Amino acid sequence: MLAYFVHPRPSPIMKNLTIDPERLWDDLMETAKIGATPKGGICRLTLTELDRQVRDWFKARCEALGCTVTVDDMGTMFARRAGQRADIPPVAMGSHLDTQPTGGKFDGALGVLAALEALRTLHRAGYETFAPIEVVNWTNEEGARFAPAMIASGVFAGVFARDWAAQRQDRSGEKFGDALEKIGYRGPQRCGDHKLSAFFEVHIEQGPNLEAEGKDIGVVTGVQAMRWYEVTITGQDTHAGTTPMPRRHDALLGAARLVETVNAAARKSATAVGTVGLLEVKPGAPNVVPGEVFFMIDMRAPDPKELDRMESEIAQAAKKLEAELGLTVAIKNIWTQPPQAFDPACIAAVRAAAQVSGFTTRDMISGAGHDAAYVARVAPSAMVFVPCKDGISHNEAEYSSKEQCAAGAQVLLQAVLDYDRRLAEQYGEK
Ligand code: GLV
Ligand code: MN
Ligand code: MN
Repeated sequence: MLAYFVHPRPSPIMKNLTIDPERLWDDLMETAKIGATPKGGICRLTLTELDRQVRDWFKARCEALGCTVTVDDMGTMFARRAGQRADIPPVAMGSHLDTQPTGGKFDGALGVLAALEALRTLHRAGYETFAPIEVVNWTNEEGARFAPAMIASGVFAGVFARDWAAQRQDRSGEKFGDALEKIGYRGPQRCGDHKLSAFFEVHIEQGPNLEAEGKDIGVVTGVQAMRWYEVTITGQDTHAGTTPMPRRHDALLGAARLVETVNAAARKSATAVGTVGLLEVKPGAPNVVPGEVFFMIDMRAPDPKELDRMESEIAQAAKKLEAELGLTVAIKNIWTQPPQAFDPACIAAVRAAAQVSGFTTRDMISGAGHDAAYVARVAPSAMVFVPCKDGISHNEAEYSSKEQCAAGAQVLLQAVLDYDRRLAEQYGEK
């Protein structure tokens, strides 16, 4: 672990390095056209043609700044700007360019484009860092197409097996590995072989706290625990007009009761949340009692004991349903992420960077999942949050102002430079 000392005031060089809010905003608005939705959001699911287009855009922009862009075999992109020492792993920053089906313009995109703007600021100033600096675009952060979320950073951190990840299927049956191949972004580098000195990620908060408290910057100290489950309820397809109510084995009725259980189980705790956001009914005709339902449960809490409790309440409710409605309920846990604390030196770098830039801050735990949580297992990491309007995210109306986005990018740049200077000190260079 690096020793860390907060600078009482910025060095003259750091003071001169100011990101350009207009350039960052222009990039956000330009990339938002790739997959733009009528309601002002973005639908750019991972490993689709639209994802390829935004990746091409990102690659071209980075190469125009003299960066070398490499891609690993999970499709994650690394744009490197050389520093004084080529033998030291880069200080990296970034996020993701994939979105939810009704995603906004800022979730993920801000983290990649703020990093690009920070890098461009260094380039324009001719500033030479000690370590190389990289901008990273992680593949499939959202998990909207291929579950679970954060597959690529999970493989990067050694949490998921590469082959397992490549075999993950979307709801149409297409495999992650095939989709990656199709868009031409399976790179030669083995995922995980790309060492990082540190990783910083800017993101919109996606919740209401910063806005409610009038704070500029969230200093993110960790990410809460999360679990995903696949549930298949099997009953019997039967005629909706002729099957008397007592004779039915209605899988959707069972699903409805379990959805209620998920909600009620989460509400027993002030900090837990539980969601069913994807549900498929078969055969899907108005006059057939549904014989099969597939759905997914997303549960999160800072304390994983809450998730244990919820899990057992859901399992008990499922048993009851099987007996009462004559159904079979199969619940499969497909993702368990423990709570993840960020690195104290990286957190301190973010806090100091925000203070040096004159921003108000509060420490916070992230309710949303982020690639930084997996990267934190293999490299010191931390995150910077900026407020978003009404705390709304995973929604086409998601919004953070130009100034809020710029504040995040400025803090990111300062934190990365600060960490780079610490590395120089650690290696005994001036
Ligand atoms: C990522 O978008 C998440 O589900 O938190
Ligand atoms: Mn995100
Ligand atoms: Mn998201």
